[in-house]
Amino acid sequence: MFRTHTNGELSLQNINEKVTLSGWVQTIRDKGFMIWIDLRDRYGITQLVFDEDRSSAALLESAKKLGREFVIQVEGKVIERTSKNPKIPTGDIEILVEKLTVLNESQLPPFTIEDETDGGEELRMKYRYLDIRRNPVRDKLIFRHKMAQKVRNYLSEKDFIEVETPVLIKSTPEGARDFVVPSRMNPGQFYALPQSPQTFKQLLMIGGMDRYFQIVKCFRDEDLRADRQPEFTQIDCEMAFVEQEDVLEIFEGMTAALLKEITGTDVGKFPRMTYVEAMKTYGNDKPDIRFGMEFVEVSDLVKGKDFKIFDEAELVVGINVEGCADYTRKQIDELIDWVKRPQIGASGMVWIKFQADGTVTSSVNKFYNEEDLKNITEKFGAKAGDLIFLMSGTENKVRTQLSALRMELGNRLGLRNPKEFAPLWVVDFPLLEWDEESGRYHAMHHPFTSPKPEDTPLLETDPGKARANAYDLVLNGNEIGGGSVRIFDRELQSRMFDLLGFTKEEAEAQFGFLMNAFKYGAPPHAGLAFGFDRLVAILDGNEVIRDYIAFPKNNSGRDVMIDAPSHIAQEQLNELSLEVRE
Ligand code: AMO
Repeated sequence: MFRTHTNGELSLQNINEKVTLSGWVQTIRDKGFMIWIDLRDRYGITQLVFDEDRSSAALLESAKKLGREFVIQVEGKVIERTSKNPKIPTGDIEILVEKLTVLNESQLPPFTIEDETDGGEELRMKYRYLDIRRNPVRDKLIFRHKMAQKVRNYLSEKDFIEVETPVLIKSTPEGARDFVVPSRMNPGQFYALPQSPQTFKQLLMIGGMDRYFQIVKCFRDEDLRADRQPEFTQIDCEMAFVEQEDVLEIFEGMTAALLKEITGTDVGKFPRMTYVEAMKTYGNDKPDIRFGMEFVEVSDLVKGKDFKIFDEAELVVGINVEGCADYTRKQIDELIDWVKRPQIGASGMVWIKFQADGTVTSSVNKFYNEEDLKNITEKFGAKAGDLIFLMSGTENKVRTQLSALRMELGNRLGLRNPKEFAPLWVVDFPLLEWDEESGRYHAMHHPFTSPKPEDTPLLETDPGKARANAYDLVLNGNEIGGGSVRIFDRELQSRMFDLLGFTKEEAEAQFGFLMNAFKYGAPPHAGLAFGFDRLVAILDGNEVIRDYIAFPKNNSGRDVMIDAPSHIAQEQLNELSLEVRE
């Protein structure tokens, strides 16, 4: 038997018991005549003691040979500590070791296995198994497990059935590139890894499963960011015989229950905002509503005063940054430079200070007198001490740029408290978006999303104006889930493929299986998918999903631990009928 107890459970109640423990050597304190060792496992730390008076010389000698991260087993007696450590549950006791067995030695680890480690990101990724030994990483994986368990319980209680769908499939268009897998038995042909199980879950509804969910890996070959990984996990869900309202209700219920159980937050009914409203008020379809700084459009107030930049702009819009009128020239210039960075791409920014003494000044005093400026501050509802930033340009661009500034200021001013949770639904997304590059429409969500019934006629007249029965769940400025009511009518689905620029043949080749299934009694259905990694990270007060994935990829999409992707042998290429162009 390797152990009678874990390293996190012994206390004064166990005094004088003979125990066997196993684990890793965390720290060694060698005073010569006495040695203390912290023994660690997933459950905690237990202090071991060896001393000249009570241990044999041989035992003391072998203890001196131990190194950090050695795997050992000890037998000994639980005794009360003289100097207690109230910070850990086992802090009242220690083990007077009677027998020590080295189960495995360890090289000195490349970074310290401590909460605050000296290891950099890449190094820790390369030795991820060592990183996982550290409390913060381990705790995040345990947290993830607990969330998955709660989700499974919640959905199972609501009659959802977890069904596994295949991983070697045919491309499903969700807007990203596919990862593909060559087929040896079908030379020149490829499977795609699912970007989501979208079509399969719809087929399960046609199969009469009624309520499906799956905690499932999805794969998307897209540029990485803090909230994106090439393989990530969804809580994928679908329901039959439901309308949008039913879906929102179930998943609002699930999210609220998770928020309550995990963070203790009672958020009440989730607010809803239309896509148009979100874009107008926050310049963003995933607004962080934990703080204000809502957009105010002032084109009507600023045009016609000979300020050419504003006169020529499609939209002049701004935000009021409360209490920041005392920003120095340098601070403001730095923010202006920030919005001019290529990532944001603004050409500049106008500021107006409503100063503490009640006077108003701005960077455009040449064009606007005090009264003009006062009118603007009034429209913002600004008070003495506030600072207003105005940006201008074409509608979409300027909103996106101002939204980036708003989020940056939210971060800088500490308005994005990770322990505060503000979910909302964004609804009524456009069905289609025009893509300049390809000169055609793309599905804003995916091609299986149904238009709002009242907007269906628009498909024939002005498709770009049609709204979809599509919804996103947003939490603290992050899209944590999205879904839609699906098309279940063959004709309408076929019309959608036309609009998206598929020929009849292409649609048949790619989606014939689904169109065919629609011939056999497809029920009305709808669903959504949560980004599980995002949900986990945010509920734990974080936005970096990599920390919540046991073996994540780095920013170039590489697994630096196993060194993937990698070249494959010529023989394997031949077998797959593949040729590699260098
Ligand atoms: P969608 O594409 O919106 O919808 O994806 C659902 C959710 O998955 C998360 N997500 C990601 N998380 C981490 N890394 C990524 N690369 C990544 N991409 C997406 C987001 C997102 O909200 N089949 C539809 C769902 C449906 O219609 O039911 C779908 O996949 O949190």
